[in-house]
Amino acid sequence: MKRVVFNQKGGVGKSSISVNLAAVSAAMGYRTLLVDLDVQGNASHYLGVEEDSLPAGKTVADLLKQTVGWFGSLPAPDQYVHLTRFDNLSLLPASPALAGLERELEMRYKIYKLRDALRALEKQFDRIYIDTPPNFNFYSKSALIAADRVIIPFDCDGFSAQAIHRLMGNLLELKGDHNGELMAEGVVVNQFNAQARVPQQLVAELEEQDVVPLFGTRLSSSVKMKESHQQQTPLIHLAPGHKLTGQFIELFHELEPDFAPA
Ligand SMILES: Nc1ncnc2c1ncn2[C@@H]1O[C@H](COP(=O)(O)OP(=O)(O)OP(=O)(O)O)[C@@H](O)[C@H]1O
Ligand SMILES: [Mg+2]
Repeated sequence: MKRVVFNQKGGVGKSSISVNLAAVSAAMGYRTLLVDLDVQGNASHYLGVEEDSLPAGKTVADLLKQTVGWFGSLPAPDQYVHLTRFDNLSLLPASPALAGLERELEMRYKIYKLRDALRALEKQFDRIYIDTPPNFNFYSKSALIAADRVIIPFDCDGFSAQAIHRLMGNLLELKGDHNGELMAEGVVVNQFNAQARVPQQLVAELEEQDVVPLFGTRLSSSVKMKESHQQQTPLIHLAPGHKLTGQFIELFHELEPDFAPA
């Protein structure tokens, strides 16, 4: 199962949600891979993997780059996958090189290469999560083509509600053109404040409009999230008993209704 966390709006919680869901999935026993497709590399940094600490040429940018001008069989994509400090959790890290590579990959129609690589990796991993950049660009499109399902973070402001409509239009077009199997799994309401009127109204409107399902779990706003990024330690390991961690576990169970501990 491959899930992409995407919203073209910046700062809505894509990296926080993809890393923490992947970490819960791994802690529950699934062999889990996180793919960081954002040139900012926030998810890689969050998991304590910096490009300078990696062997040269071993990022997702290098994987995609070697598809250019190659006519034989490609080197196995697992060469670009790294273990993290956390059991069952591996990372295909981002690199600043993604920025310079985008145009060339696009010009050479490499939009299906990530899908092919992840199909090969799916044999080694039970779950794959993909973090995306805040743009509907070559990389996020590649991720949406590679994935089975898309999770959409929503940060409860008025612009976000409009952005979801634009996003659904883009997703439908991409689904029609490239990936008929893609399913919008749901919107995750992030940084939800149940006491404030505006977020409640926005969420109620989204529910009424019924353009995409909403997960029942709401993620609260907590300083623990910032601390977790700073400590490069996902919440399930940093603060297993924290309320926000509990919400990520609840969200995991919404995604995995058939999960049974081994
Ligand atoms: N539930 C939360 N509680 C508190 N802070 C949060 C929460 N979720 C996200 N944040 C904070 O909001 C900021 C943006 O989050 P994040 O980087 O995950 O968003 P993003 O969508 O990946 O951003 P970008 O579009 O730049 O990639 C970060 O500083 C993060 O720590
Ligand atoms: Mg991000």
